[in-house]
Amino acid sequence: MKKKIKVLFICLGNICRSPAAQGAFENIVRKENKEFMFEIDSCGTSGFHDGELADPRTRKVALKRGIHLTHRSRKLTSNDLHYFDYLLVMDDNNFKDVNSLINDEQTRTKLFKFGSFDPENDSNIIPDPYYGSEREFEKVQDLVEKCSIGFLKFLGV
Ligand code: 4NP
Repeated sequence: MKKKIKVLFICLGNICRSPAAQGAFENIVRKENKEFMFEIDSCGTSGFHDGELADPRTRKVALKRGIHLTHRSRKLTSNDLHYFDYLLVMDDNNFKDVNSLINDEQTRTKLFKFGSFDPENDSNIIPDPYYGSEREFEKVQDLVEKCSIGFLKFLGV
């Protein structure tokens, strides 16, 4: 049996963008009957919201697209950096924070901005919706869906 591809989505609080990304990616992988190929998780750089479900606005927007989010927020650990094959961050601050925890070049090759997998997203960033309106959460959902498709294409599976 082939080894699973281990994918970790990372944002600041692990209650808005990375759970949305996890849910969107799991959904597309399920639709394509590729669940057996992946291990998928998400976390935050901060630990501010440890143990919490995703933000109610994140869950509402995901549910409108048929995605039920049950993930509980957790903080990134140093073990994650070695365990996962892909470390997918949402913005420049996440990139800086995770990059500063990495001390070997092999691990650094696993770090990507998730937004870079959407060819139409010039900024390469999934913007933080936390202080925005529901519209910002819808935008995040649209972006993570497009990036999920792009990331699967990139993997070529
Ligand atoms: P996330 O959004 O990083 O996409 O989960 C945020 C969630 C919480 C906070 C900031 C951003 N906060 O400051 O508590």
